[in-house]
Amino acid sequence: MTAEPPVFRPLTPSDLESVVDLARRVWQDTYPGIISQAQIDSMLAARYHPGALGEYLAAEDRWFELAETAGQLAAFCACERHCGEYKLDKLYVDPDRQRNGLGGQLIARAAERARSLGFPHMILAVNKRNAQAIAAYRKHGFSIRESVCVEIGGGFVMDDYIMQKPL
Ligand SMILES: CC(C)(COP(=O)(O)OP(=O)(O)OC[C@H]1O[C@@H](n2cnc3c(N)ncnc32)[C@H](O)[C@@H]1OP(=O)(O)O)[C@@H](O)C(=O)NCCC(=O)NCCS
Repeated sequence: MTAEPPVFRPLTPSDLESVVDLARRVWQDTYPGIISQAQIDSMLAARYHPGALGEYLAAEDRWFELAETAGQLAAFCACERHCGEYKLDKLYVDPDRQRNGLGGQLIARAAERARSLGFPHMILAVNKRNAQAIAAYRKHGFSIRESVCVEIGGGFVMDDYIMQKPL
């Protein structure tokens, strides 16, 4: 049997709960061993509830896209303008659907949008210890541009690479 191709569509307010649910599952699958559970809980509480996502979405420069397979939310991707550059800000694929090309397709769609807006490249920030994501980003055309370590309060830091993909 051939798998159904994914359907891509913009996030709508009625999707907020399921996006929060997917984000929480992906974070809990990905980040233990990379950051502490206290930092996971703190960042999820700050960013992943319907109110915070609604506010994120309300900003003019945001582009938030969902991928569904067989009618189920499988992945999401969010981009924004950031200090004059185009940033891939969120990319999360359901743990049961990773390594099937969905992340790559969402990156390609984000890149197409950035290109159509006239940006020469696209950037993202990824935790230095997130080897799986770094490998995926390299595969899809990004390379490491710089290393940053940003304090985010509560004694937590985001110890990231900034990666860049030419368009
Ligand atoms: C990183 C992520 C978005 C990539 O999306 P994806 O749909 O899994 O990736 P694709 O199928 O497009 O690309 C596959 C590549 O990703 C990497 N990859 C994905 N899953 C992997 C895994 N379980 N183990 C090792 N590498 C993996 C590999 O480089 C792989 O290429 P390969 O199969 O030729 O080795 C996805 O794995 C994910 O959501 N991870 C958890 C959340 C996360 O870290 N998000 C990024 C935050 S900055």
